[in-house]
Amino acid sequence: MYRFETINTLRQYLNSIRSEKTIGLVPTMGALHEGHTTLIETARQENDVVVCSIFVNPVQFNNPDDLARYPRTLEEDCRKLEVAGCHVVFAPSVAEMYPEPPMLRMNFGELESILEGAFRPGHFNGVGIVVAKLVNIVQPDRAYFGQKDLQQVAVIRRLIHDLSFPIELVRCPTIREGDGLAMSSRNRNLTSAERGQAIKLFQALTMARKMLAEDGRSNIQVKAAVTDLFAGDPAFRLEYVEIINADTFQPASEVLAPGQTAICLAAHLGHVRLIDNLIF
Ligand code: PAF
Repeated sequence: MYRFETINTLRQYLNSIRSEKTIGLVPTMGALHEGHTTLIETARQENDVVVCSIFVNPVQFNNPDDLARYPRTLEEDCRKLEVAGCHVVFAPSVAEMYPEPPMLRMNFGELESILEGAFRPGHFNGVGIVVAKLVNIVQPDRAYFGQKDLQQVAVIRRLIHDLSFPIELVRCPTIREGDGLAMSSRNRNLTSAERGQAIKLFQALTMARKMLAEDGRSNIQVKAAVTDLFAGDPAFRLEYVEIINADTFQPASEVLAPGQTAICLAAHLGHVRLIDNLIF
């Protein structure tokens, strides 16, 4: 596995193989788990060469404590990538990616005003800038993102469309622990007691899905039931629960065609902010 820390050396290498190989890009912020290695495996099946970027992107953090606490485990990550069969790791420094703070601002319109956009102002500007930079640097054929960050997928789909990037976006399913907790780099910051409590997000989502899809309850009833579930547990602070069209991110007024309704939620558990969603 090759490891590059500068844009120029990575570009030189990729330019030397590009005419004969397809390239899959898996952008990450490190602290890799099985969710990431599944992205690598999917990318390996569909491309000749897989490039994984590891970069904790300061521009997408609206909370300095969150940035400081974000786990950084580069050597362990590289070992996992090697085992997963990744071909190239790109692990630039902040100075390499941003010699100066970017002047560019990205605004994703309505996508910014709801869910993650509403609670993390500026977050998608930072995601858009770094993903545009990575796509420009790597020039992959395909780029892989996890469904857990569903709104991020919608933002990046729009970025690719608006900037006419000639790449395919591949959304991969959320990978869960045995008890249902969605895998996330932030789970490492949970205490063992919190780790036990964290399954409440998946329980809330499965309860909501049943109420909507089997019991014929309205969106208002379902959102109230989820809100009550969290209100009864002082360990949590629910930030939002929304039922939306998974493609347009507009609020869903009724149950849509199969695979189109998404229930999304975000909640704080101690110092850790967790998000999750189910599409049905
Ligand atoms: O999902 C993430 O880990 C990040 O938001 C991404 C896409 C790597 C951009 O920094």
